Amino acid sequence: MRVRKAVFPVAGLGTRFLPATKASPKEMMPIVDKPLIQYAVEEAIAAGVTEMIFVTGRGKRAIEDHFDRAIELEVELERRNSRELLKMVREILPARVSCSYVRQTNPLGLGHAVLCAAPLVGEEPFAVLLADDLIEAKTPVLKQMVAQYERFNCAIIAVEKVPRHKTRQYGIVKIRGAASRLSAISQIVEKPAPKDAPSNLGVVGRYILPGRIFNHLRALRAEAGRELQLTDAISSLLEVEAAYAYPFDGVRYDCGSKLGYAQANLAYALAHPEIGTDFRRYISSGAWKR
Ligand code: G1P
Repeated sequence: MRVRKAVFPVAGLGTRFLPATKASPKEMMPIVDKPLIQYAVEEAIAAGVTEMIFVTGRGKRAIEDHFDRAIELEVELERRNSRELLKMVREILPARVSCSYVRQTNPLGLGHAVLCAAPLVGEEPFAVLLADDLIEAKTPVLKQMVAQYERFNCAIIAVEKVPRHKTRQYGIVKIRGAASRLSAISQIVEKPAPKDAPSNLGVVGRYILPGRIFNHLRALRAEAGRELQLTDAISSLLEVEAAYAYPFDGVRYDCGSKLGYAQANLAYALAHPEIGTDFRRYISSGAWKR
């Protein structure tokens, strides 16, 4: 079955970016001129996804507005004859793509967020994209993963090597085979201490999952009183079927951290069609040194 749906968990508070995220969603923070969530949605569209499902929370209205039509803005741009801008705002979403929104009323973890999307996903395979992980790639990463999914028909999880001392920030997988290729996962653990980590292969925020994952999430939910980790549901899925780790082709920026966010802005500004040349000149002039 084709991957037609993508889930975007966007209910997080974004406390690492306060005060910027006090009244606006962290997913709306721009890399140069485009919000993080739009990069993720464009990646899903490039992979053939046509149904976008956002798991939102309080204070996330700006995301809904962003993917909706802005009639007043369009009228004003028409009046000013700003054709290019008009085209840009109209084409944020192609007509064939739909968006739905479901609320995660309790902050009970990534697994819980994904479970909130279950009624909208049904039983089919779907993608999960975490907008914090911005990945620059010739072939968009989700598209690379869909190709793998179509070969193997099982869960495909993006991974990359992470520094040993950072294993506490990631889901960590152990694989059967070489880290440089798609390999079957034999173990997955959420945020282990470096000494307990089964490898240094970290999960990055792109997943293709079978609809069956929801049964595993529901079973975990039954163990009351704690956050529901997607990693734990994948671990439970592994007991009954295969899942593959996919070392993608591309450069990932961890835009959930200030450093990664600044690095992404630098890289994207240098490559930007409008400001790239001037920005490169500015960087090499050294005028920014204090
Ligand atoms: C989540 C997942 C983790 C994964 C990471 C990738 O963690 O729980 O397994 O490695 O995303 O970005 P978070 O960064 O939301 O704490």
